[in-house]
Amino acid sequence: MNNLSVDNLLGIKHLKKNDLELIFKTADHFKEVINRPIKKVPSLRDITIANLFFENSTRTKLSFELAEKRLSADIINFSAAQSSVKKGETLIDTANNILSMKVDIIVMRHPNEGAAYFLSKHVDAKIINAGDGAHEHPTQALLDSFSIREKLGTVKGKKIVIIGDILHSRVALSNIYALKLQGAEVKLCGPTTLIPKHITQLGVGYEKSIRKALEWCDVANVLRVQHERMDIKYFPSVREYTQMYGINKELLDSIDKEIVIMHPGPINRGVELTSDVADSKQSIILHQVENGVAIRMAVIYLLAQQINRN
Ligand code: CP
Repeated sequence: MNNLSVDNLLGIKHLKKNDLELIFKTADHFKEVINRPIKKVPSLRDITIANLFFENSTRTKLSFELAEKRLSADIINFSAAQSSVKKGETLIDTANNILSMKVDIIVMRHPNEGAAYFLSKHVDAKIINAGDGAHEHPTQALLDSFSIREKLGTVKGKKIVIIGDILHSRVALSNIYALKLQGAEVKLCGPTTLIPKHITQLGVGYEKSIRKALEWCDVANVLRVQHERMDIKYFPSVREYTQMYGINKELLDSIDKEIVIMHPGPINRGVELTSDVADSKQSIILHQVENGVAIRMAVIYLLAQQINRN
């Protein structure tokens, strides 16, 4: 299979196992490219991409920009804070104004769930969801699986625990879809108030004790508590959260095997992970960031193949 089964990348939910395999195979090639002395290919010289960020981002925004440049695409960047959105312009008007400048692909991060889907129904461009509210963050889940595959050889059959604020996490939902599609066993761990009520219907387990979760898993994907998405208190204090669900070196060293530590960033050092864990040899956090560029190159390249470029 050389084509994705989808026209846009809105979420992992819409992908098939073959899509994931195609993206990973393509990313393997681009990872080799970005480690060459000349880290660039001319593949998308005729493609223009707009990066629309209505919410803050460091890794995703820079990673998409670099991926686009490595593919030789022309790019324009839009940040809501400095735009006419502040003057009341709608999302569709903003997108259509940008498209009239002959843009082929839109990469969008937005605080509202479903914003990427909504845009895909109203504008004539390929849409890549770079995170929509607490819904999906597909390229993060792809780079996470790619990093597990690179470290452990395969995702199939591996035991992955996702720890922390599952309720407000688009990374968690996209990871659950991606990991289940590849045949991993998935458990969630965190305060019950931060676990969505019906999440086990997606075929994932729940473990309240962080020690038991770590003893069970091959990989721990640790998430940040998203205070900015909380309108009520979900646990008594950050100190207590850290005591119950934080991972420190003493806890990690007391586990009878060497598990892999992941985190999508940004890390709250000293809250969900201590620095000596985040920076330990068990951590693949910076490999995740590196792999993000190859994965985003693959996604953009594969979607661009569907555009009529004559
Ligand atoms: N992992 C991630 O989405 O990070 P940013 O919010 O910095 O893009």
